[in-house]
Amino acid sequence: MHSIVHNFRMKEHHHLALFVLLQVFTFSMNKAGALVDTDTDTDTAEREALLSFKSMVSDPRESLLGWNLSSPHCIWFGVSCTVPLLGNMNDLVQLRLSFNNLSSTTEQNLQFINSLVNCTNLEVLMLNSNQLAGELPSSIANLSTHLREFWVDTNFLSGSFPRGMENFRNLTVVSLHLNSFKSKVPNSIGTLHKLEQFSIQQNLFFGDIPDIFSNLTQLYQLTMGNNHFSGKIPKSIGYCHGLFILGIFRNMLNGNIPNEIFGIPCLSKLFLDENALTGSLPIEVGGLKHLEIMDVSDNQLSGIIPTTIGGCTSLRIFRIARNRLSGSIPNSIVQLPGLERLDLSSNNLSGPIPDDLKTLRVLQNLNLSFNQLEGQVPRGGVFMNLGWDSLQGNNKLCGDEQEVTGKLRVPTCTSTTQKKQNGSVSLKIIIPIASFVLLCVVSCFIWVLMSHKKKDKIDKGTCSSPSFKEWWPKISYSEIQSATNGFALKNLIGKGAFGSVYKGFIGSDEHNLAQDRLTMRETLTKMHEIKANLLEL
Ligand SMILES: *[C@@H]1O[C@H](CO)[C@@H](O)[C@H](O)[C@H]1NC(C)=O
Ligand SMILES: *[C@@H]1O[C@H](CO)[C@@H](O)[C@H](O)[C@H]1NC(C)=O
Ligand SMILES: *[C@@H]1O[C@H](CO)[C@@H](O)[C@H](O)[C@H]1NC(C)=O
Ligand SMILES: *[C@@H]1O[C@H](CO)[C@@H](O)[C@H](O)[C@H]1NC(C)=O
Ligand SMILES: *[C@@H]1O[C@H](CO)[C@@H](O)[C@H](O)[C@H]1NC(C)=O
Ligand SMILES: *[C@@H]1O[C@H](CO)[C@@H](O)[C@H](O)[C@H]1NC(C)=O
Ligand SMILES: *[C@@H]1O[C@H](CO)[C@@H](O)[C@H](O)[C@H]1NC(C)=O
Ligand SMILES: *[C@@H]1O[C@H](CO)[C@@H](O)[C@H](O)[C@H]1NC(C)=O
Repeated sequence: MHSIVHNFRMKEHHHLALFVLLQVFTFSMNKAGALVDTDTDTDTAEREALLSFKSMVSDPRESLLGWNLSSPHCIWFGVSCTVPLLGNMNDLVQLRLSFNNLSSTTEQNLQFINSLVNCTNLEVLMLNSNQLAGELPSSIANLSTHLREFWVDTNFLSGSFPRGMENFRNLTVVSLHLNSFKSKVPNSIGTLHKLEQFSIQQNLFFGDIPDIFSNLTQLYQLTMGNNHFSGKIPKSIGYCHGLFILGIFRNMLNGNIPNEIFGIPCLSKLFLDENALTGSLPIEVGGLKHLEIMDVSDNQLSGIIPTTIGGCTSLRIFRIARNRLSGSIPNSIVQLPGLERLDLSSNNLSGPIPDDLKTLRVLQNLNLSFNQLEGQVPRGGVFMNLGWDSLQGNNKLCGDEQEVTGKLRVPTCTSTTQKKQNGSVSLKIIIPIASFVLLCVVSCFIWVLMSHKKKDKIDKGTCSSPSFKEWWPKISYSEIQSATNGFALKNLIGKGAFGSVYKGFIGSDEHNLAQDRLTMRETLTKMHEIKANLLEL
């Protein structure tokens, strides 16, 4: 059994709920506990370190009010220690102060980090989503070598890439995104073999992305978008076999997309848009059975869309707009049953629009504008609600009915009138043949559907191997909501300056430490999304 405790705050002026912090109390065995005697010096040192930390940050929401001598520091808000076993030693293991609007006072800058150097068992440091500004002090490199998670994202931090990360051999998370860090990425990151999440997007990082990924086989999330990176995409990313999200959008990258990337078996989200990438989409793309989103728009890709695209059976969103593609739209694209958005606009695609696009039931957004497409616009499906601005700039398209041609602003097809004239003559022959063909098509379709289902099962099996699943349990806001009975009063276990604290149970089986930690991480990511959505509102 485990409990999840998190704070929940109502945003003023919005009736929207926003998590401000989620705290998971994790209990781990005290490795040294059995050997070391009562050590109140450690207690004192840690308490002093935390109080010194408190004195150096400004805390407008008084989240740290309870950090005083009236209670032991191991139960202070955001602080988590190991459970005392034999002996009385309490070691600070986790400091989680995300989403608290903490800011550093200007005269002290970020020197409060110095006070954490004496916490020699610190494993998790979460200072993300606050108002911290300025450069991290060099003492960051002197934090505990046991550090596993380093979260400082979503602040106003500047200066170069935090120094000394290579000292922390067990790092699994380096989360720096949404700050103003400005430097190159140090090669030493490549030595952190346990890294699972490396998120540095939305900073001012520049230079080449170093080719350092060949040993980072545990990497799950690699997000470096919205920086000033130039040069080529390193091939060694292909060694990150567990990669789920790869985001390097909005940089100045050039050269080909390395083929190796299309060999990452579990890749689900690929964002390479807004760069200057050249070359073509290789046929290997069809091997990405788990690919759900591919955005490679706004590059200089040329060549054709390979027919193997039909193999990306999980694809939901495919954007390759504003490139230099030629050739026709492959018919295999209609084999993507989950396709919701397709943007092929502003290329040089020619030939007809595959008629069966109208059979894709979930396809909602289709943009084929500014190509050289020709022939009749299909009728039905997504084409029923299509506006002229989704087909504009294709001068050889035509429609078969006045209303369609009017709405789509295309001329009437000349061949349709001929077809209608011949129609009555050969109906007796056409109907039986058509029925037979239809029967064949339907049975083929069913067969294809069934074989796809089989394939899907096999593929999903390989990607949701135990380790993979364990690292990223699918837990959503709504699951947390239901776990806490919709944030019911019964589950409310406390109220503080920082919000309300609820208790909830997720799942019925026993969760281990690793899972608890990750549950939290996923939720934090979700919270970022919620936060981002709020900003967009
Ligand atoms: C000390 O912390 C307790 C909660 O643990 C709080 O109620 C009290 O107001 C705090 N005292 C001061 C002086 O801040
Ligand atoms: C967060 O801090 C900033 C200034 O540091 C302040 O303007 C803002 O109102 C604070 N927000 C909340 C929710 O306390
Ligand atoms: C850290 O420990 C050293 C030596 O024990 C001590 O001199 C220093 O004041 C401590 N720093 C903090 C911030 O507690
Ligand atoms: C960090 O550790 C190095 C030695 O590893 C030492 O020289 C340096 O003074 C320390 N810096 C701080 C700020 O404690
Ligand atoms: C790193 O993790 C391993 C396995 O969990 C552990 O045995 C080792 O002591 C850790 N190293 C440090 C420096 O914490
Ligand atoms: C990967 O690890 C091996 C063995 O530990 C080492 O020889 C190699 O240099 C490493 N590669 C990189 C790019 O760090
Ligand atoms: C577009 O494709 C046609 C052939 O289909 C070719 O003649 C033309 O040069 C291409 N235009 C561009 C800008 O690549
Ligand atoms: C389709 O794409 C073109 C250019 O890429 C854009 O101008 C147009 O607004 C898009 N149409 C829709 C409906 O989004």
